[in-house]
Amino acid sequence: MDTKELVRAAYVALLGREPESEEVLTAKAAALQDPVDILQHFLSSEEFQASHKDFIATLRIGQAAIAQDVAVDATENELRALFDRICRQWQKLGDIEPYWSVLTNDRYRLSKFQENKAEFERTGEQSLQMLQRAAARCHTTVPTGVCLELGSGVGRVTRHLADQFEKVIGVDVSEGNSALCKKYLLESGKHNVDVRVIKAPVEIEALPEYDMFYSIIVLQHNPPPVIRYFLTTLLSKIRPGGAAYFQVPTHTPNYKFSIGSYLKSATEVLDMHLLPMPHVLRCIDDAGLKLREVLMDTSTGMYGSHSFYAVKPL
Ligand SMILES: C[S@@+](CC[C@H](N)C(=O)[O-])C[C@H]1O[C@@H](n2cnc3c(N)ncnc32)[C@H](O)[C@@H]1O
Repeated sequence: MDTKELVRAAYVALLGREPESEEVLTAKAAALQDPVDILQHFLSSEEFQASHKDFIATLRIGQAAIAQDVAVDATENELRALFDRICRQWQKLGDIEPYWSVLTNDRYRLSKFQENKAEFERTGEQSLQMLQRAAARCHTTVPTGVCLELGSGVGRVTRHLADQFEKVIGVDVSEGNSALCKKYLLESGKHNVDVRVIKAPVEIEALPEYDMFYSIIVLQHNPPPVIRYFLTTLLSKIRPGGAAYFQVPTHTPNYKFSIGSYLKSATEVLDMHLLPMPHVLRCIDDAGLKLREVLMDTSTGMYGSHSFYAVKPL
């Protein structure tokens, strides 16, 4: 690609438009010598800055982020109390608005679900592709064998994990969502999934070992000590040669967490929490996994959610 073509590509990719004229394009190409010059010129232009205000603001949040006051340690009783609250919340959501509780878009409310069902189901395939792309970026392949999906919900991704793995164990706290998950899997002809409803955190300790740990848009709904307990326990069950792909917010502007205040506060429709990055990395390390990639993602619609890909050496 010559300089002129590169400059034209920068117009289209970064400003979302063609150059105003051939003369302007030729003049810019003559003034900008190499790809770095071109990038710097367009990224610092007023036009780019104005059209990417939200994106730039997001990056600034990251640069200005300070350590947050987040309790991550809990006694057994506290852990149980925190988890009970989450179970109750999801019990209700699973009974009232199961599909909306999975993807909080009004199109997926029960009143509109039938007309948007196909679209909802397609998003599950896209989620599997994100896992496959993460593995490929890390120069590995997604393991086969057994996959543990934490928070299988209504089976949106589970149905596709069932094609990728010999066996899937789907664990969830919501009876309503799990019943819909089983129905969807049956209708899709998937018979290699074991869907389990758990009622207490310790139940995950009895799970067998597996080759893949997978969890997206689940951990974010649990208080920090619960996230840490689940990650510590579930990552330690990955067999050598296996991998983990999970999403969790690690920083949210103005977030803080204390067990006492949380347990005394009014119940929300849908809790949103985080586990600070150093604790997530510690969980990965302690399980003997090698971190291969951390990417910021858009799962929460705000700054600070990350997707992690880690592998367990043979
Ligand atoms: C937003 S939905 C996502 C479902 C699925 N991961 C997906 O992407 O389609 C969250 C699900 O996780 C479940 N969940 C929340 N916290 C959980 C926990 N600590 N253990 C197991 N399931 C949990 C909820 O009941 C709900 O079905």
